[in-house]
Amino acid sequence: MAEELLAATDIHTFYGRSHVLRGVSLSLGRGETVSLLGRNGMGKTTLINSILGLVPHSSGAVVYEGHDISAVPTHEIARRGIAYVPEGRGIFPNLSVKENLLVAARPGPTGRLDWTFDRVMSTFPKLKLRLGNGGDQLSGGEQQMLSIARALLTNPDLLILDEATEGLAPLIAQEIWKVIDIIKETKISTLIVDKNLKAMGKISDRAVILVKGEIVFDGSMRELFSRSQDLNNWLGV
Ligand SMILES: Nc1ncnc2c1ncn2[C@@H]1O[C@H](COP(=O)(O)OP(=O)(O)O)[C@@H](O)[C@H]1O
Ligand SMILES: [Mg+2]
Repeated sequence: MAEELLAATDIHTFYGRSHVLRGVSLSLGRGETVSLLGRNGMGKTTLINSILGLVPHSSGAVVYEGHDISAVPTHEIARRGIAYVPEGRGIFPNLSVKENLLVAARPGPTGRLDWTFDRVMSTFPKLKLRLGNGGDQLSGGEQQMLSIARALLTNPDLLILDEATEGLAPLIAQEIWKVIDIIKETKISTLIVDKNLKAMGKISDRAVILVKGEIVFDGSMRELFSRSQDLNNWLGV
Protein backbone atom coordinates (compact mmCIF):
# COMPACT_ATOMS: atom_id res chain seq x y z
CA MET A 1 0.00 0.00 0.00
CA ALA A 2 1.00 3.62 -0.49
CA GLU A 3 2.34 5.57 2.47
CA GLU A 4 -0.29 5.54 5.19
CA LEU A 5 -2.19 8.79 5.65
CA LEU A 6 -5.00 7.83 8.02
CA ALA A 7 -5.42 4.85 10.31
CA ALA A 8 -8.39 4.38 12.59
CA THR A 9 -7.84 1.36 14.82
CA ASP A 10 -10.38 -0.58 16.86
CA ILE A 11 -12.87 2.27 17.14
CA HIS A 12 -15.83 1.83 19.47
CA THR A 13 -18.56 4.45 19.46
CA PHE A 14 -21.78 4.62 21.44
CA TYR A 15 -24.88 6.80 21.28
CA GLY A 16 -26.04 6.54 24.86
CA ARG A 17 -26.22 2.81 25.47
CA SER A 18 -26.39 1.92 21.82
CA HIS A 19 -23.07 0.38 20.76
CA VAL A 20 -22.85 1.53 17.14
CA LEU A 21 -19.21 0.99 16.12
CA ARG A 22 -17.83 -2.30 17.39
CA GLY A 23 -14.10 -2.25 16.87
CA VAL A 24 -13.75 -0.70 13.44
CA SER A 25 -10.33 -0.38 11.80
CA LEU A 26 -9.90 1.56 8.60
CA SER A 27 -6.77 2.83 6.91
CA LEU A 28 -6.16 5.00 3.91
CA GLY A 29 -2.96 5.44 1.93
CA ARG A 30 -1.75 8.69 0.47
CA GLY A 31 -3.49 9.28 -2.85
CA GLU A 32 -5.81 6.32 -2.36
CA THR A 33 -9.53 6.38 -3.19
CA VAL A 34 -11.58 4.17 -0.88
CA SER A 35 -15.30 3.40 -0.93
CA LEU A 36 -17.04 3.00 2.39
CA LEU A 37 -20.09 0.84 1.79
CA GLY A 38 -22.98 -0.52 3.80
CA ARG A 39 -26.75 -0.34 4.04
CA ASN A 40 -28.48 2.48 5.86
CA GLY A 41 -27.84 2.60 9.57
CA MET A 42 -24.71 0.42 9.53
CA GLY A 43 -22.45 3.13 10.94
CA LYS A 44 -20.77 4.81 7.95
CA THR A 45 -21.54 8.37 9.00
CA THR A 46 -20.78 7.54 12.62
CA LEU A 47 -17.36 6.24 11.58
CA ILE A 48 -16.60 9.44 9.66
CA ASN A 49 -17.82 11.57 12.55
CA SER A 50 -15.73 9.53 14.98
CA ILE A 51 -12.63 10.07 12.84
CA LEU A 52 -13.30 13.81 12.70
CA GLY A 53 -14.08 14.18 16.39
CA LEU A 54 -17.68 15.22 15.71
CA VAL A 55 -18.85 12.20 17.71
CA PRO A 56 -16.65 10.96 20.55
CA HIS A 57 -15.36 7.40 20.32
CA SER A 58 -15.06 5.55 23.59
CA SER A 59 -11.94 3.62 22.63
CA GLY A 60 -9.55 3.11 19.78
CA ALA A 61 -7.08 5.41 18.04
CA VAL A 62 -7.28 7.72 15.06
CA VAL A 63 -3.86 8.45 13.63
CA TYR A 64 -3.44 11.01 10.87
CA GLU A 65 -0.04 11.65 9.31
CA GLY A 66 1.53 9.76 12.20
CA HIS A 67 -0.17 11.76 14.97
CA ASP A 68 -3.00 10.59 17.20
CA ILE A 69 -5.85 13.03 16.54
CA SER A 70 -8.37 11.39 18.88
CA ALA A 71 -8.31 14.41 21.20
CA VAL A 72 -7.76 17.07 18.53
CA PRO A 73 -10.72 19.42 17.97
CA THR A 74 -12.53 19.09 14.63
CA HIS A 75 -11.55 22.53 13.32
CA GLU A 76 -7.89 21.75 13.99
CA ILE A 77 -8.25 18.38 12.18
CA ALA A 78 -9.64 20.33 9.22
CA ARG A 79 -6.66 22.68 9.35
CA ARG A 80 -4.33 19.70 9.22
CA GLY A 81 -5.75 18.76 5.85
CA ILE A 82 -8.95 16.72 6.11
CA ALA A 83 -11.93 18.22 4.27
CA TYR A 84 -15.45 16.94 4.82
CA VAL A 85 -18.48 17.09 2.55
CA PRO A 86 -21.19 15.92 4.93
CA GLU A 87 -24.49 14.30 4.11
CA GLY A 88 -26.77 17.30 3.59
CA ARG A 89 -23.83 19.37 2.35
CA GLY A 90 -23.50 22.01 5.06
CA ILE A 91 -23.21 25.10 2.90
CA PHE A 92 -23.98 28.57 4.27
CA PRO A 93 -27.49 29.37 2.97
CA ASN A 94 -27.26 33.10 3.62
CA LEU A 95 -23.91 33.59 1.90
CA SER A 96 -23.58 33.86 -1.88
CA VAL A 97 -21.91 31.08 -3.81
CA LYS A 98 -18.83 33.23 -4.21
CA GLU A 99 -18.71 34.02 -0.48
CA ASN A 100 -19.17 30.34 0.36
CA LEU A 101 -16.10 29.62 -1.75
CA LEU A 102 -13.95 32.50 -0.60
CA VAL A 103 -14.40 31.83 3.12
CA ALA A 104 -12.99 28.36 2.55
CA ALA A 105 -10.04 29.16 0.29
CA ARG A 106 -6.60 28.64 1.77
CA PRO A 107 -3.37 26.81 1.03
CA GLY A 108 -3.08 23.24 2.32
CA PRO A 109 -1.19 22.41 5.52
CA THR A 110 2.10 22.12 3.65
CA GLY A 111 1.45 25.21 1.55
CA ARG A 112 0.08 23.30 -1.42
CA LEU A 113 -2.18 25.38 -3.63
CA ASP A 114 -3.44 23.02 -6.33
CA TRP A 115 -6.99 24.25 -5.99
CA THR A 116 -7.50 27.93 -6.57
CA PHE A 117 -10.68 29.91 -7.13
CA ASP A 118 -9.94 29.97 -10.88
CA ARG A 119 -9.39 26.23 -11.08
CA VAL A 120 -12.61 25.61 -9.20
CA MET A 121 -14.42 27.88 -11.65
CA SER A 122 -13.17 25.89 -14.63
CA THR A 123 -13.92 22.55 -12.94
CA PHE A 124 -17.44 23.63 -11.94
CA PRO A 125 -18.67 25.85 -14.80
CA LYS A 126 -22.23 25.71 -13.43
CA LEU A 127 -21.12 27.37 -10.20
CA LYS A 128 -19.50 30.13 -12.20
CA LEU A 129 -22.94 31.04 -13.53
CA ARG A 130 -24.33 31.14 -9.99
CA LEU A 131 -21.66 33.11 -8.14
CA GLY A 132 -24.04 35.86 -7.08
CA ASN A 133 -26.81 33.50 -5.97
CA GLY A 134 -27.43 32.67 -2.34
CA GLY A 135 -26.47 29.21 -1.12
CA ASP A 136 -30.17 28.59 -0.51
CA GLN A 137 -31.08 29.33 -4.14
CA LEU A 138 -29.21 26.37 -5.58
CA SER A 139 -30.52 23.05 -6.83
CA GLY A 140 -29.42 19.91 -4.95
CA GLY A 141 -26.77 19.20 -7.57
CA GLU A 142 -25.43 22.73 -7.45
CA GLN A 143 -25.31 22.58 -3.65
CA GLN A 144 -23.28 19.40 -3.81
CA MET A 145 -20.91 20.94 -6.38
CA LEU A 146 -20.53 23.96 -4.11
CA SER A 147 -19.85 21.79 -1.10
CA ILE A 148 -17.18 19.82 -2.97
CA ALA A 149 -15.69 22.97 -4.49
CA ARG A 150 -15.47 24.54 -1.06
CA ALA A 151 -13.76 21.47 0.36
CA LEU A 152 -11.21 21.50 -2.49
CA LEU A 153 -10.39 25.15 -1.90
CA THR A 154 -8.98 24.19 1.51
CA ASN A 155 -6.39 22.17 -0.47
CA PRO A 156 -6.83 19.06 1.65
CA ASP A 157 -4.76 15.90 1.61
CA LEU A 158 -7.84 13.86 2.41
CA LEU A 159 -11.39 14.52 1.22
CA ILE A 160 -14.28 12.70 2.87
CA LEU A 161 -17.56 12.63 0.94
CA ASP A 162 -20.61 11.27 2.73
CA GLU A 163 -23.49 10.25 0.42
CA ALA A 164 -21.75 11.86 -2.54
CA THR A 165 -24.68 11.71 -4.96
CA GLU A 166 -27.64 11.05 -2.67
CA GLY A 167 -30.88 12.46 -4.04
CA LEU A 168 -29.32 13.77 -7.24
CA ALA A 169 -30.67 13.13 -10.74
CA PRO A 170 -28.55 10.61 -12.68
CA LEU A 171 -27.06 13.21 -15.04
CA ILE A 172 -26.02 15.45 -12.15
CA ALA A 173 -24.64 12.46 -10.27
CA GLN A 174 -22.55 11.67 -13.35
CA GLU A 175 -21.03 15.13 -13.19
CA ILE A 176 -20.11 14.56 -9.55
CA TRP A 177 -18.38 11.26 -10.47
CA LYS A 178 -16.42 13.09 -13.18
CA VAL A 179 -15.30 15.65 -10.64
CA ILE A 180 -14.21 12.90 -8.25
CA ASP A 181 -12.11 11.50 -11.08
CA ILE A 182 -10.42 14.89 -11.50
CA ILE A 183 -9.82 15.09 -7.73
CA LYS A 184 -8.19 11.69 -7.88
CA GLU A 185 -5.74 13.00 -10.45
CA THR A 186 -4.59 15.73 -8.08
CA LYS A 187 -3.45 13.00 -5.64
CA ILE A 188 -5.91 13.85 -2.91
CA SER A 189 -6.91 10.77 -0.90
CA THR A 190 -10.66 10.27 -0.92
CA LEU A 191 -13.05 8.35 1.29
CA ILE A 192 -16.45 8.11 -0.41
CA VAL A 193 -19.79 6.92 0.84
CA ASP A 194 -22.41 6.34 -1.83
CA LYS A 195 -25.00 3.81 -2.93
CA ASN A 196 -23.84 3.62 -6.54
CA LEU A 197 -21.64 0.56 -6.46
CA LYS A 198 -20.97 0.63 -10.18
CA ALA A 199 -19.64 4.20 -10.16
CA MET A 200 -17.61 3.50 -7.03
CA GLY A 201 -16.18 0.38 -8.64
CA LYS A 202 -14.75 2.43 -11.48
CA ILE A 203 -13.26 5.09 -9.28
CA SER A 204 -12.04 3.32 -6.14
CA ASP A 205 -8.83 1.51 -5.35
CA ARG A 206 -10.41 -0.34 -2.47
CA ALA A 207 -13.72 -0.96 -0.73
CA VAL A 208 -14.57 -1.30 2.94
CA ILE A 209 -17.95 -2.65 4.00
CA LEU A 210 -19.67 -2.04 7.31
CA VAL A 211 -22.40 -4.31 8.63
CA LYS A 212 -23.88 -3.38 12.01
CA GLY A 213 -20.82 -1.46 13.09
CA GLU A 214 -18.26 -4.06 12.05
CA ILE A 215 -16.03 -4.32 9.01
CA VAL A 216 -16.94 -7.42 7.01
CA PHE A 217 -14.82 -6.69 3.94
CA ASP A 218 -11.68 -4.68 3.19
CA GLY A 219 -10.16 -5.36 -0.19
CA SER A 220 -9.97 -4.54 -3.86
CA MET A 221 -12.99 -3.73 -5.97
CA ARG A 222 -12.15 -6.66 -8.20
CA GLU A 223 -12.30 -9.05 -5.26
CA LEU A 224 -15.53 -7.46 -4.08
CA PHE A 225 -17.26 -7.88 -7.43
CA SER A 226 -16.18 -11.51 -7.59
CA ARG A 227 -18.13 -12.23 -4.39
CA SER A 228 -21.65 -11.72 -5.65
CA GLN A 229 -23.35 -13.80 -2.98
CA ASP A 230 -21.62 -11.89 -0.18
CA LEU A 231 -22.35 -8.60 -1.91
CA ASN A 232 -25.99 -9.49 -1.86
CA ASN A 233 -25.86 -10.30 1.86
CA TRP A 234 -23.89 -7.21 2.82
CA LEU A 235 -25.44 -4.61 0.57
CA GLY A 236 -28.60 -6.15 -0.82
CA VAL A 237 -27.47 -5.69 -4.41
N1 LIG B 1 -27.08 11.15 16.79
C1 LIG B 1 -27.50 9.89 16.95
N2 LIG B 1 -28.06 9.48 18.13
C2 LIG B 1 -28.45 8.20 18.30
N3 LIG B 1 -28.34 7.24 17.38
C3 LIG B 1 -27.80 7.57 16.19
C4 LIG B 1 -27.34 8.91 15.92
N4 LIG B 1 -26.84 8.94 14.68
C5 LIG B 1 -26.97 7.69 14.18
N5 LIG B 1 -27.54 6.87 15.10
C6 LIG B 1 -27.79 5.43 14.92
O1 LIG B 1 -26.54 4.81 14.73
C7 LIG B 1 -26.61 3.80 13.73
C8 LIG B 1 -25.63 4.10 12.62
O2 LIG B 1 -26.05 5.30 11.96
P1 LIG B 1 -25.21 5.98 10.81
O3 LIG B 1 -23.80 6.06 11.23
O4 LIG B 1 -25.89 7.25 10.47
O5 LIG B 1 -25.36 4.93 9.63
P2 LIG B 1 -25.12 5.08 8.07
O6 LIG B 1 -24.38 6.35 7.83
O7 LIG B 1 -24.37 3.86 7.69
O8 LIG B 1 -26.48 5.11 7.43
C9 LIG B 1 -28.06 3.75 13.29
O9 LIG B 1 -28.72 2.75 14.04
C10 LIG B 1 -28.59 5.12 13.67
O10 LIG B 1 -29.95 5.07 13.93
MG1 LIG C 1 -24.91 8.03 6.69
